Amino acid sequence: MRGQDPSRGLIRDSGGRLFALVGLVFVATAAGGQMLQQEVPQLEGPTPSMAVIGAAPLPRWVVDDQRRMRAYPDQPPIIPHSIEGYELSVNANRCLSCHKREFTQDSGAPMISVTHYMTRDGQMLADVSPRRYFCTACHVPQADTRNLVVNKFKDMSELGIKPAGSE
Ligand code: HEC
Ligand code: HEC
Repeated sequence: MRGQDPSRGLIRDSGGRLFALVGLVFVATAAGGQMLQQEVPQLEGPTPSMAVIGAAPLPRWVVDDQRRMRAYPDQPPIIPHSIEGYELSVNANRCLSCHKREFTQDSGAPMISVTHYMTRDGQMLADVSPRRYFCTACHVPQADTRNLVVNKFKDMSELGIKPAGSE
């Protein structure tokens, strides 16, 4: 049926132009990519990647037990307490011994939210979902260090909205 396709001639005619356009987009993207490469700050520092240097001292974690505001609604909150020596393996999960729904009354820890009990299809489970088992894949402690790069982040509440209930 290919020969009968009425749009085929059209495609063939504009083929040359299409090719030129694709070429142009390719060149533009490559140029943009190069510009971007120059602007992206180097995170690894001036040391050549293959050189062996001493490890930097471990940063001091913020462990003041203050739950920090989230930068955006779906951010995994940072861990505001020490997790030194907490076992997190297939056999034992120290985090759940405080944060699991059943244990929160005694531990006083905030419960892992409902999303932690859902499969990726939104099916609710009786226990923590395997994809949420290894907490530190998403939740990290906060170190008391300088920003690696200049941070101009603005919270969305600072973007000129009138806060609800402010009158
Ligand atoms: C001994 C109980 C206990 C254990 C074990 C524990 N936590 Fe917590 N966690 C708490 C309590 C209590 C808080 C509330 C803030 C505070 O007091 O530090 C908290 C707060 C948090 C928060 C902040 C929640 C928010 O809304 O800001 C995160 C994230 C967290 N814990 C993750 C973890 C992870 C990950 C582990 C395991 C590596 C863990 N916790 C182990 C008791 C515990
Ligand atoms: C795949 C990433 C991921 C993993 C793994 C994960 N979390 Fe979370 N967690 C999140 C996100 C995202 C949020 C915030 C939005 C939400 O509640 O889903 C959150 C929220 C939380 C909160 C705050 C709940 C609330 O209602 O304020 C706690 C406490 C928490 N997680 C603890 C844990 C613990 C303990 C584990 C390990 C058993 C864990 N999380 C594993 C991503 C994760």
